[in-house]
Amino acid sequence: MSDAVLIERHGSILVLSLNNPPVNGLGLALRTGISEALDQAEADDAVTAVVIKGAGRMFSAGADISEFGTPRSLADPNLPSVCLRIENSKKPVVAAIHGVAAGGGLETALSCHYRVASTKTRLGLPEVTLGIIPGAGGTQRLPRLTGVEAALKLITSGELAPAAKAQKLGYVDEVVEGDPLEAALAAAERLAASGALRRTMEIEEKIAEARANPGVFDEFAKSIAKKARGFDAPFACIEAVKAAATLPGPEGLAKEREIFKGLVGSSQAASQRHAFFAEREVAKIPDVPKDTPVKEIATAGVIGCGTMGGGITMNFANAGIPVTVVENDPAALDRGLETIAKNYQATVDKGRMTQEDMDSRMTLITGATDMAALSEADVIVEAVFEEMDLKKQIFGALDSVAKPGAILATNTSMLDINVIAAATSRPESVIGTHFFSPANVMKLMENVRGEKTAPETIATVMDLSKKLKKVGVLVGVCDGFVGNRMLGPYLREAGFLLEEGALPAQVDKAIYDFGFPMGPFAMMDLAGNDVGWRIRKRQRAENPNNLRYSDIADQICELGRFGQKTGGGWHDYDDGRTPTPSAKVEEIVVETSKRLGIERRKISDQEIVERCLYPLINEGAKVLEEGIAMRPCDIDIVWLFGYGFPRYRGGPMFYADTVGVKTVYDKMCEFHEQHGDLMKPAPLLEKLAKADKRFADL
Ligand code: 3HC
Ligand code: NAI
Repeated sequence: MSDAVLIERHGSILVLSLNNPPVNGLGLALRTGISEALDQAEADDAVTAVVIKGAGRMFSAGADISEFGTPRSLADPNLPSVCLRIENSKKPVVAAIHGVAAGGGLETALSCHYRVASTKTRLGLPEVTLGIIPGAGGTQRLPRLTGVEAALKLITSGELAPAAKAQKLGYVDEVVEGDPLEAALAAAERLAASGALRRTMEIEEKIAEARANPGVFDEFAKSIAKKARGFDAPFACIEAVKAAATLPGPEGLAKEREIFKGLVGSSQAASQRHAFFAEREVAKIPDVPKDTPVKEIATAGVIGCGTMGGGITMNFANAGIPVTVVENDPAALDRGLETIAKNYQATVDKGRMTQEDMDSRMTLITGATDMAALSEADVIVEAVFEEMDLKKQIFGALDSVAKPGAILATNTSMLDINVIAAATSRPESVIGTHFFSPANVMKLMENVRGEKTAPETIATVMDLSKKLKKVGVLVGVCDGFVGNRMLGPYLREAGFLLEEGALPAQVDKAIYDFGFPMGPFAMMDLAGNDVGWRIRKRQRAENPNNLRYSDIADQICELGRFGQKTGGGWHDYDDGRTPTPSAKVEEIVVETSKRLGIERRKISDQEIVERCLYPLINEGAKVLEEGIAMRPCDIDIVWLFGYGFPRYRGGPMFYADTVGVKTVYDKMCEFHEQHGDLMKPAPLLEKLAKADKRFADL
């Protein structure tokens, strides 16, 4: 017998410990181990009951995701049969759950006859986040314990609920402080003595109501339609729960399995799996090993309390870190602090935060008008205007204010970190922390390493990202870093498409239908068109060339149409928020085509997607070649978390692998021929295409 399941006797009770570090993934060895241990329990008359627990830090995180797509994943004994085996055992089986019971881990527990969890446990079915549905009875057993409505909410959101909530909803029987083993052993003894076993699949009462009213499923599907747009799995989850309510038990289980098998090999599931592992991979930095010392961040400072500084300040307060925010002018400071308070108040008003929480966060924030107030800060994030001279001046002054060893970070979105670092005597402590707007909401931090940034500075900032509940991606210095640099060709092509025959609404719709939350023009209108205008002016002054350039964006800015904030940009915003086509912009677009002598043509949605995304991927290939991003997965995470690239497509580089690197390359060659050097395929793209390789093979 393998040691994937450790077996101990506690009197007449056999205790099985799932033992597959780090998360007790239910791979083939573990499934076999459980099966064999149940054989042993059944064959031994001296055994009266079984307790299943997890070894290490949790019960189980579910199926071993790295097995998906391999024969081991579906090999016998498969998880559904192991769950049935547990449920149908003649001897009581009790789950003693600590840490996490997720996915197949919870499905295993739901098959037991009684569940004890410790107070700090989280339990749920997060399969939907991997583009699949629970495939080992979760969609059939959970509703029998909680009722259909609660099960639909849990399964389509993937929420890992705390033990107390799970108990309230009915899928945990008992919650105890600390180790649940003792209470589980006691329950096992009670069940063995009574001889009465509650088999989850036999419970009918909780699903009876939905059985009488199957319309509830369509209503639920409607309620998640907007949030789940484009994703297959949430709707498949609903179909599976519907099967629980409308079919006899065994048929419901069979239906669930059929839906599961249909999804697990899909490109959405592969993309979402990729996103899951990529999110963890980005924390691994080859030349900054795991044991690199991390500095403690007990207090923080922020310079500039504008759009970004205010949001960054909130991030520290949200994480419980006292933060001092500095503005040079008292009126600007008051305005900044007021905006922070208003933002928190809006969250309280929506019922997403208590007044007490808001008050305690506000007390962590101190305003100041002198940088001397930052002398004790462990990390200082500069977020003043995007002007190199100002940043240099601030870092020069910080050099004499900040305590030795403090991390000196800049939120610049484009400027050269090495030049900023050179303004101090301690470039090893300088790093970019590029938050995305709104900084208190967006989860991405592009952490930018300069030439001299020390490993300890990097390790501390990557760790800080986690503490702030962000995903930190380490990137190198170049104009725009990873995200904004790749955004360049995407926006550029969107502009050219206008000159050639499209209108902003059509481009936006094609990109929205691809899965982005909004198209390029709506995005620019939200961010403010003046931002890009300033960047384009700087870039053209720094790097004059005679490559094709669309001036439609500049014409729009010259009219003061900076976007939502001015009531109009690429689109009109009569109500301040909803984009409607602008006759003025259409006139400018059509006039521009005429002036350039371009005959406007019909442009397909497919062309829009390819013209905008393939050059973006091409730029990604350059970013990789230059070492600005370490791996394709780093780029994917930047785009998933910073720009709303649809998760079910995995990120731009994974998407390129999905459609085929050669397909992207061939199309780029065609674009190159049609549109000139801006579309020249990147050498890495060419190399991979010619070798029939994927970005994932790098
Ligand atoms: N399979 C394989 N590897 C897994 C895994 C799983 N189910 N869950 C986590 N891991 C790996 C991670 O990739 C990571 O590996 P690394 O150290 O090499 O990067 C390691 O285990 C530790 O994971 P985390 O860093 O995520 O650990 P945390 O403590 O932060 O989080 C957790 C723990 C909440 C359990 C989180 O790991 C998680 O959400 N895991 C996935 C849960 C899940 O989606 N389960 C459903 C699986 S599908 C299924 O069960 C199908 C069934 O219905 C048939
Ligand atoms: P902002 O104009 O909203 O805020 C800048 C603030 O800095 C102002 O409140 C100003 O009073 C203050 N300030 C100026 N000089 C100062 C000084 N000497 N000392 C203290 N405070 C001073 O600008 P925003 O948008 O917040 O941008 C800040 C930085 O963040 C820039 O580098 C920008 O490129 C970057 N960034 C901006 C994003 C955005 O979407 N707005 C996104 C990511 C990065």
